[in-house]
Amino acid sequence: MYLLAIHGSPRKNGNTEIFLNAFISGLDPTFFVEKVRLAELKFTPCLGCEKCEKTGECILKDDFSILAEKIIRADIIVVATPVYFYNHTSLVQAFYERFQVFWVRKNILKKPHPFNKTPLGILLAIGATRGNKLFDSLKRSFRYVLDSIYGIYGGGLFLRGIEKKGEILNFPQYLEEARELARYLKSLL
Ligand SMILES: Cc1cc2nc3c(=O)[nH]c(=O)nc-3n(C[C@H](O)[C@H](O)[C@H](O)COP(=O)(O)O)c2cc1C
Repeated sequence: MYLLAIHGSPRKNGNTEIFLNAFISGLDPTFFVEKVRLAELKFTPCLGCEKCEKTGECILKDDFSILAEKIIRADIIVVATPVYFYNHTSLVQAFYERFQVFWVRKNILKKPHPFNKTPLGILLAIGATRGNKLFDSLKRSFRYVLDSIYGIYGGGLFLRGIEKKGEILNFPQYLEEARELARYLKSLL
């Protein structure tokens, strides 16, 4: 089982990274896990050039090219992001935009998933405020992104009221929930 964990906050060792690390620590040791901090990669958003509509390949050759290989091999993709202006961060937005090549392969070029996978998507998100709709936009985007790789949205964990760096450590129950969700994944195998 290959699990690709994407950390989408620019803040290293911040709340979402601590949360994601707790999740990873709960995973079964038989899982092959790779964690990627988007802030450490160099890649641009989609250019909208439409070249992929002819070739099925993205013309951009940057760090996302390496990630693209991981994405199509993943059985589970976890995206961890703080809420920024009622959405995911711009790092995550740029990451999602690069799924356009997968969207094109599926919906225009009518290609199947190269490994016939239906990856499971898990979302971990944290915001400082408490609004009912705080995570709606993040969930909607993630579902749409997953659909481009024949993936299925499996839900996630959504934390409100956490703002300052490291504040999540005041809520050990949330870290336990992350480990619990990770442990639960094994039962799906
Ligand atoms: C640019 C920016 C925009 C933010 N926008 C929101 C927001 O719309 N709603 C919210 O609840 N929190 C918002 N926050 C707060 C973060 O979601 C919160 O501090 C979170 O715990 C940061 O996680 P991190 O430590 O992993 O970066 C924002 C923070 C920043 C820096």
